[in-house]
Amino acid sequence: MADLKIAIKNPSLDEGCRGIIFPAGDDLVVKILKREERGDQLVDEYNIQKELYLGKVRVPEPKGIVDVFLEDYVFNKSLFLKRDQKGILMQRLYGDTLEEIYHNRDEKFGAYIADCREQVDLARSLGFRPGDLGIHNAILNQKDGKAYLTDFSEWENTR
Ligand SMILES: Nc1ncnc2c1ncn2[C@@H]1O[C@H](COP(=O)(O)OP(=O)(O)O)[C@@H](O)[C@H]1O
Ligand SMILES: [Mg+2]
Repeated sequence: MADLKIAIKNPSLDEGCRGIIFPAGDDLVVKILKREERGDQLVDEYNIQKELYLGKVRVPEPKGIVDVFLEDYVFNKSLFLKRDQKGILMQRLYGDTLEEIYHNRDEKFGAYIADCREQVDLARSLGFRPGDLGIHNAILNQKDGKAYLTDFSEWENTR
């Protein structure tokens, strides 16, 4: 996967305080960091996501660290982003965050939360120390009707 270079020419899907998510081909997205990296933050985040995935915690399947190139449309409307950088390639989820659906929640909402708590408990039992567990970091994937944990930028693996 290391020699794969992804050209980003479409607008982002969403962003948080640290990262921006771009569509990247069929059923994939790439996450790049908005701030200059301290150390190997992106690789650390990728490794946590991969270990969680292998431990059967429900997270978007991580595909690898890739080289990303921002095409003019994206590059010209960003003040500071570097044109060439690394990104995390992963499975694309189709749906809103639990925070977004909270306001129009139905009777299934409680089950999504309970399920996320189970995922977090499983992660803890595998030795992970979770980071930002706000419901803005869980996405209800319309493809399978399941809630996925996302965003491992502040997670740690204690093992
Ligand atoms: N795999 C994904 N597929 C689709 N959208 C995603 C995916 N991962 C994250 N997102 C969207 O992008 C937003 C920002 O991603 P996130 O990893 O939380 O970035 P940050 O580290 O900046 O908080 C999320 O709130 C979510 O809406
Ligand atoms: Mg986030």
